[in-house]
Amino acid sequence: MKKMIIANWKMNPSSIKEANKLFDSLLTIKNNDSKIEVVVAPPFVYLPFISLGSEKTDIKCASQDVFWENPSVGGGAYTGEISPKMLKDLYVDYAIIGHSERRKYIGETDEMINRKVKAALNEGLKVILCVGEPLEVRKKGKKAAMDFVKNQLQKDLKDIKKLSVVGRRSLVIAYEPIWAIGTGVPAHSNDALEMIKYIKQLLAKSYNLKARVLYGGSVNSKNIIDFVKHNEIDGALVGGASINSKEFKKIVEKINKLNN
Ligand code: PGA
Repeated sequence: MKKMIIANWKMNPSSIKEANKLFDSLLTIKNNDSKIEVVVAPPFVYLPFISLGSEKTDIKCASQDVFWENPSVGGGAYTGEISPKMLKDLYVDYAIIGHSERRKYIGETDEMINRKVKAALNEGLKVILCVGEPLEVRKKGKKAAMDFVKNQLQKDLKDIKKLSVVGRRSLVIAYEPIWAIGTGVPAHSNDALEMIKYIKQLLAKSYNLKARVLYGGSVNSKNIIDFVKHNEIDGALVGGASINSKEFKKIVEKINKLNN
């Protein structure tokens, strides 16, 4: 299956000039006949420039969040929020939902995340749902980590069966153990593999879903292959290393070589 690599720019870079420069530098990515799906997730303020600029390329665009209300008239009285409809109108393909930084700093709950997932999928906006355990849970062992992720998935995907099959198929899961994000210490690839296999089993059993599941957390050009060499790991969500265009391109290059 085609591997997927997502550049999560988070709250970077600090100007539109730098954002355009960073995006332009990605246009030289040789995508080997589109064997890899490359997705860029810039901050909302840069999204129109990047998204409209990506239209003629193979690069796809994601938002880093989306609101749970999606009024049929297109808008509503929700100060500061962005609807799935607005993102679709900008040719945005995906919305990242439930990133652990939003859960931690903004206080996003599983209930909010569940509403966002359903609103996005209902509008035809694909979803990259982030799940993953904190360090104190991982320290208790594999079973505790798996139970934690299972509980997150059950809450975040509640009632998802009511959506159309097409809607459900547009779901991607990113397994991102919180302790591996931005720390320079990724999960051991065997542990990531084990969790990803478990997530896939759960999705198949509970939702009759064959979704792509990615790994995220301190991925760089040196360790990317450890993860994506496994068939079951469908790609990676890259944070820090994605705002360094050379490093990000190296990551894509390495996956391309693996595919050959
Ligand atoms: P990182 O971030 O690659 O900097 O660890 C990953 C993420 O938060 O998506």
